Amino acid sequence: MVRILFVCLGNICRSPGAEAIMKSLVRKAGQEKFFHIDSAGLYGGHAGALPDERMRRHAARRGYVLDSRARTFYPSADFADFDMIIGMDRQNMSALKRLAQDETERAKLFLMTDFCRPPALYSEVPDPYYRGEEGFEEVLDILENATAGLLQVCLSSEK
Ligand code: 4NP
Repeated sequence: MVRILFVCLGNICRSPGAEAIMKSLVRKAGQEKFFHIDSAGLYGGHAGALPDERMRRHAARRGYVLDSRARTFYPSADFADFDMIIGMDRQNMSALKRLAQDETERAKLFLMTDFCRPPALYSEVPDPYYRGEEGFEEVLDILENATAGLLQVCLSSEK
């Protein structure tokens, strides 16, 4: 069992996208029993909300249904409950590193684009909130690439 938490700022654009795409990949691979997947935001201002309408619309065009509700990242519970805590951008990673209490917790932190192939294709998943529609397409391109790499990493460590 691998427990994965995707983290961004608001939990209404990037991390719910990552959650839905990863769940879809895992389902297609027939590996649902092996994964627990969730997402959270470092900023709690959107807690309880559905994902951003633009994110939902762009994701739906690619066949992903985004219906999770935003929640805040809870350091004490989430560092205990998850094996991999995956931040979307460098700002998320700095915040997560500050919240980690020890080396065990720090070792659970990963940057989403580190799973992309080829490596270093993208440096982070950029915040689309104040960008145009193409920002959401770029986010989805990066998330599809990174989740495929992440699935491979998880399945190869299962063996
Ligand atoms: P997310 O996008 O971190 O990908 O969910 C954002 C959502 C909301 C805000 C910023 C980024 N905000 O400033 O409210």
